[in-house]
Amino acid sequence: MEKNIVLVGFMGSGKSMIARRLAKQLKVQLVLTDALIEAKAAKSIDAIFTDHGEPYFRDLEAQVIKEVSLRRGVIIDCGGGAVLRKENLQHLKTNGIVFFLQAAPEVIYQRIKNEKHRPLLKVPDPLGSIRQMYQQRLPLYNQADHVIDANDASIEGPVVEILKRI
Ligand code: S3P
Repeated sequence: MEKNIVLVGFMGSGKSMIARRLAKQLKVQLVLTDALIEAKAAKSIDAIFTDHGEPYFRDLEAQVIKEVSLRRGVIIDCGGGAVLRKENLQHLKTNGIVFFLQAAPEVIYQRIKNEKHRPLLKVPDPLGSIRQMYQQRLPLYNQADHVIDANDASIEGPVVEILKRI
């Protein structure tokens, strides 16, 4: 596999599980941008947001994306906000095919409402916040090369669909 497979989409769209399955099935390396950001900062995503704020996190994210975009033949699992900076998607597309895993805000909310580690959802109205961020990000996610339906709880459908399109 010459090109990278890049997964983008909202938190809770199934990126991590799908990325892991693809890496296993294709026997290629899996690269997690969030994990690389945590390694660079030597702290958790949550702590980066608390201690330094979101813009600092986005700077680290952009650096990591630029670096991983140079690789070839790997699966890249991106954080949900990776599309917020235009240059990120440009870098990711250089050596990669970008897949947007699309799931509705209500589906996302059901999947992640009990998880506590996501800084952007520590707000009084998480569903409202998801809806708002989703609307803002949708045009950016839609700049991916492919849109994959990820509303179903099973990851089989998206995995098969991605394999069909590479
Ligand atoms: C973010 C999504 C998170 C993580 C950070 C910000 C976002 O990644 O990068 O909390 O802005 O949507 P996941 O999509 O893997 O949860």
